[in-house]
Amino acid sequence: MFVLPDLPYGYGDLAPTLSDRTMRFHHDKHHGAYVKTTNELLGPHVTADSLEEVVREAARGDEHRKLFNNAAQAWNHAFFWAVMTPRHDEPRGELASAIAAAFEDLNGLKSKFVEEGAGHFGSGWVWLVTDEAGVLYVRSTHDADDTLTKAGMTPLLVCDLWEHAYYLDHQNDRKGFLEAWFDALPNWTFAGSQFGAAQGDGALWRYPAPDLRQPLRRAG
Ligand SMILES: [Fe+2]
Repeated sequence: MFVLPDLPYGYGDLAPTLSDRTMRFHHDKHHGAYVKTTNELLGPHVTADSLEEVVREAARGDEHRKLFNNAAQAWNHAFFWAVMTPRHDEPRGELASAIAAAFEDLNGLKSKFVEEGAGHFGSGWVWLVTDEAGVLYVRSTHDADDTLTKAGMTPLLVCDLWEHAYYLDHQNDRKGFLEAWFDALPNWTFAGSQFGAAQGDGALWRYPAPDLRQPLRRAG
């Protein structure tokens, strides 16, 4: 079965942008429910090597929509925790050069990221992604949709656009939330590692492998 990964920092460490209360609800209740439902849908006799494999296989047919939604949300949330840090960070090296090439500077990227996320209708996610050539793009996806199912697209950062991510702290001000989030919380060291891995230098981030003492069948 798949585990709910711990946060890589304390519940209150991302305040004031994301409060202790928001993080406890978001991680323990929302993320926890997606992981629990994924395990229930997969059942006790299933085998799958990774959550990435479950998401990609479930995405192949509408009959697996509920599994896709829960497995993708489990993955997206774990990735969201990984792309944040309570320590101020800045892009460096090749990632900084790629940001300059695509957006002129970090402020240009921030404007694009906030515009895309604030303008996204309904729930979803806003991503900074790279293609195989190292060109950066800002994209948003609806509901549970993610980047695992999109060829040639590697995520570097993501921010949650579901109201549960920000409503307790920012009410309906999604734009204000995104501006504060971009200034304070991105883990650029992590994003740089993903950028390098997309070019073949190192390994991409992966969801924790399932506990195979309780084998899972393939989602298909
Ligand atoms: Fe969320």
